[in-house]
Amino acid sequence: QPYRYLGHTTSTQDELRRWAEEGAPEGAVVLAERQTAGRGRMGRPWVSAPGASLTFSLLLRPRVPVALLPLAVGVALREAVGLGGLKWPNDLLAPDGRKLAGILVEAKAGGPVPGVVVLGIGLNVLPPVPPAAAALSEFMPVNRADLLAGILEELENQYENLSKPERILEHWKKYSVTLGKEVSIRTPRGEMQGRALDLAEDGALVVESQGGTERIAAGDVSLIG
Ligand code: BTN
Repeated sequence: QPYRYLGHTTSTQDELRRWAEEGAPEGAVVLAERQTAGRGRMGRPWVSAPGASLTFSLLLRPRVPVALLPLAVGVALREAVGLGGLKWPNDLLAPDGRKLAGILVEAKAGGPVPGVVVLGIGLNVLPPVPPAAAALSEFMPVNRADLLAGILEELENQYENLSKPERILEHWKKYSVTLGKEVSIRTPRGEMQGRALDLAEDGALVVESQGGTERIAAGDVSLIG
């Protein structure tokens, strides 16, 4: 697997995007010890101390629809790490509910099969971590190189599963800490509350609220109870 290992960069997402424009092959990885402008979903920053987290991006050139890719990546991460639960769509939470890892899927617009997807993963490995986050080393001994190898291997398995959507949904549900819970969701269209009931076939979250049942395609979930 072709990779670039950097001491520091703005964001491995930007670095890999540039490399993709120069023709990086599928599977190319950019890993950095420190990011000065790491970013998360929905415009949030991703902050991690130098060397404390595993922060990397992986290039995909999909040939099948990728609606379920975010969930598939969450499943891969959970399988590789071996503990914790998934908060929709793809945060990995520690057993006590603090955030262990976040996933960012950036695709050039272009329908269900985008030309290029830059997948970013940030996994807190060692303290210090931001408030409300957890480090994996609090729960198990970690070797970052082994962890990375394990994650890349699981990503490959789940990527192949994209052609078998039921598998991805089934695995995701098994690891879910979202379904059955009261949730508050910040969506691009505003804030809503309700009970997370299920996943739709396209990976949307089905939420029951006072207004009826809604499918949420994108948003930021807080678990209430
Ligand atoms: C989230 O929790 O909202 C997603 C966080 C994704 C962070 C990773 S770290 C490696 C890659 N580079 C970035 O700038 N972001 C992702």
